[in-house]
Amino acid sequence: MIVLGIESSCDETAAALVSNRRQVLSSVVASQIEVHRRFGGVVPELASRMHIEAIESVVEQAIDQAGVSYADIQGVAATRGPGLLGALLVGFSFAKAFAFARNLPLAGVNHLEAHIHSLFLTEPSPKFPFIALLVSGGHTNLYYVTSENNCELMGQTRDDAVGESFDKVARMLELGYPGGPILERLARQADSDLIPFPRTLLEKDKFDFSFSGLKSAVLRHTQANPPANDKDRAQIAASFQAAVMYVLTFKILQAARAKSCFRVAVCGGVAANTTFLQALEKEASKENIRVFAPPASLCGDNAAMVAARGAVMLEKGQFSSMDEDVFSRNPY
Ligand code: KG4
Ligand code: ZN
Repeated sequence: MIVLGIESSCDETAAALVSNRRQVLSSVVASQIEVHRRFGGVVPELASRMHIEAIESVVEQAIDQAGVSYADIQGVAATRGPGLLGALLVGFSFAKAFAFARNLPLAGVNHLEAHIHSLFLTEPSPKFPFIALLVSGGHTNLYYVTSENNCELMGQTRDDAVGESFDKVARMLELGYPGGPILERLARQADSDLIPFPRTLLEKDKFDFSFSGLKSAVLRHTQANPPANDKDRAQIAASFQAAVMYVLTFKILQAARAKSCFRVAVCGGVAANTTFLQALEKEASKENIRVFAPPASLCGDNAAMVAARGAVMLEKGQFSSMDEDVFSRNPY
């Protein structure tokens, strides 16, 4: 089955074609980052308007690049939420119109489930069951995934998401937006990561996270010791990143032990952080635990993961009706 996927939950307008649930025929992502950058974050109204401008040509490009015709498309999947309502409405309404006009089944996809499905789009993909850490700008969720349709939420952040804290710390260091990739690059230039920022583990045998204390500690540090040059900034970046990596690695491996599971996976925008992946792999290998992550192009928001999730829903007959609506917050 060839499924058209559409994603517009935040600041990326994306369309993709995926065949047989796992084979990516095309994946087009139009990023709005340049427009939002000067405001230091995503401006929802602007995002909606830009999705409207981009959606038609992004979908056309995805179909062209896949080398298929409109008649080959057998189903449509689009992100329903969580995300920015105005932004979601553009992609979901477009998908409804496309499905209605061509008489195709429609799947309204949960964005977080789509991120998990990004793990199935490259080889090797993790076999079930596995632990999945979803780390993005809006979420830090730890799951025990037992099948394509079943995942147990083991823990989540009680305050800031990991990507959000990267972005906030980057702003404190005046590095620009989005902060994650810039901060990771800068951290590589540091001689050390010795500033002792807090590594909040909460209850050690539970799987929730908290990053607001770390963020405040970085703020206090930069106020007390204003960075004078790139070297100072690099040291703060490296120390902050080391604290985040420590907590994430601790929790994901703890979750693997709790479930006696030897496969862990990382997905979402922050999974593009190779420093973190390497550190996690190093620790995991000591316990014979294998680490899986999608390639960087499938870590950030994209529509291939939406099509992949949608294909599973469509095969199970989980169709969306034309009066289904978008949602801003995750229902579970
Ligand atoms: O999944 P995503 O594209 O969008 C959401 O659904 O939120 O994630 C975006 C987040 C941003 O906060 C960005 O700073 C972060 O992922 N990010 C990174 C890296 N690349 C992107 N964080 C740390 N290191 C990176 N290399
Ligand atoms: Zn996302």
